[in-house]
Amino acid sequence: MGIAPKKSKFSWNEYFSDKKDGGHRHSTEEFLNKEAKEKLLHLDGGTSLLDFGCGAGELLIYYAPCYEMVVGVDFSPSMLDEARRKVAVNKYDNVCLIKADDKTVWNEVSSLFDRITTTEVLQYLTFEQIDSFIETASKYLNNDGKIVFFDIIEPRSYVLWKIGFFSKRIHYLKVLPTIFVELFDYICASLSNSPKDIIGYSHNPYKIEKIANKYGFEMEYIRSIYYEYRYHAILSRKLPL
Ligand SMILES: C[S@@+](CC[C@H](N)C(=O)[O-])C[C@H]1O[C@@H](n2cnc3c(N)ncnc32)[C@H](O)[C@@H]1O
Repeated sequence: MGIAPKKSKFSWNEYFSDKKDGGHRHSTEEFLNKEAKEKLLHLDGGTSLLDFGCGAGELLIYYAPCYEMVVGVDFSPSMLDEARRKVAVNKYDNVCLIKADDKTVWNEVSSLFDRITTTEVLQYLTFEQIDSFIETASKYLNNDGKIVFFDIIEPRSYVLWKIGFFSKRIHYLKVLPTIFVELFDYICASLSNSPKDIIGYSHNPYKIEKIANKYGFEMEYIRSIYYEYRYHAILSRKLPL
């Protein structure tokens, strides 16, 4: 995995403009179905869902039968085309797909949601963007609603994953050179103010929790079942004492 090009020449919007899948570990329906089941368990009901960064709809089509209304949002036209195709094949008439980004999305939706969710999206947002997303999302959330961020990259586990710590067999001889290359990539990325690699930014759970608390939410931290270096953050409104 190479270093993402310098920020000035690079935008995630452009990067995703011709992509057609979300890069899940396996692209089989069997795997996506299992991934969606884990997510539906944590979404834990509700009747209306906003799936921000829905991509090609690989999970959204599994959410659709469980909700009265599903709104999928993404800034990539190619991803949305794929999502539209899947929704049409499945004949879901409760799904609306919108082209927007983390700022413009709020001009496009008018109703409140029971659940606002993202999967593998926070890695493309800076802390400032996440802060602003949570602040505005909270205004579009029903009182007992939840914001559920799935599969955020955990910085410490990601480093371990990259050096092969979670592999079935660790190749100890490769660990040292890998650490060296990783360190070099990290320094270059920091100097050029770019995301460290094309997977985007990792975010410390304590920092996400701090933002959540600032806007009156408490955060539940859950390790992802299918990705060793990812976690979920479930934000529910703090109950009055
Ligand atoms: C890794 S894919 C995941 C797609 C989908 N959530 C899934 O799990 O299959 C990330 C998606 O987020 C979208 N995305 C990233 N940043 C975004 C932003 N600021 N506004 C809208 N969409 C964004 C990308 O276009 C891409 O479709």
